[in-house]
Amino acid sequence: MNLKDTIRVIPDFPEEGISFKDITTLLKDKDALKDAIDQFTELAKDLKIDLVVGPEARGFIFGTALAYNIHAGFVPIRKPGKLPHKKISQEYVLEYGKDSLEIHEDSITPGQRILIIDDLLATGGTLLSTARLIEQLQGEVVSIMTLIELTDLKGRDKLEKYDVHSLVSYP
Ligand code: PRP
Repeated sequence: MNLKDTIRVIPDFPEEGISFKDITTLLKDKDALKDAIDQFTELAKDLKIDLVVGPEARGFIFGTALAYNIHAGFVPIRKPGKLPHKKISQEYVLEYGKDSLEIHEDSITPGQRILIIDDLLATGGTLLSTARLIEQLQGEVVSIMTLIELTDLKGRDKLEKYDVHSLVSYP
């Protein structure tokens, strides 16, 4: 199974010059979905992970399946204004402007071993903010996993102090 063959590339979406990696074609392929989750599971199975943390929205898809497989809990990282209980926020810089991500304050117990998962590592802003939120709550970021890595954007450089794995890469 070559996972890359199941990812649809859409030129000039959502704006000109962006080559969008559409994972809906992977997700609807039962063998590709199983293969992706199996690969994440194999990478994670001996890491003694307490919690899988996934950023909205596509991190939820892979995160819950992986958490189930390794018998860990799942914690969502959400866009502003979505979480109902006490939370902390982390701002990150976008190409134009800023956005922020939020986590419930009581979602992590100090010292818990955390795996972060998302569909895509581009600039690395999302995953770095996620790691910072976890560390503010004194969780230990044991590993970061993504389905896709866009290597030219050098997001991995921002995450150099972490153990980062991606299953498929594009320039
Ligand atoms: C996309 C993707 C990652 C993030 C990667 O999410 O799913 O979470 O961008 O980009 P970065 O490495 O430059 O931070 P998006 O912000 O589009 O949110 P969505 O999944 O809710 O559509």
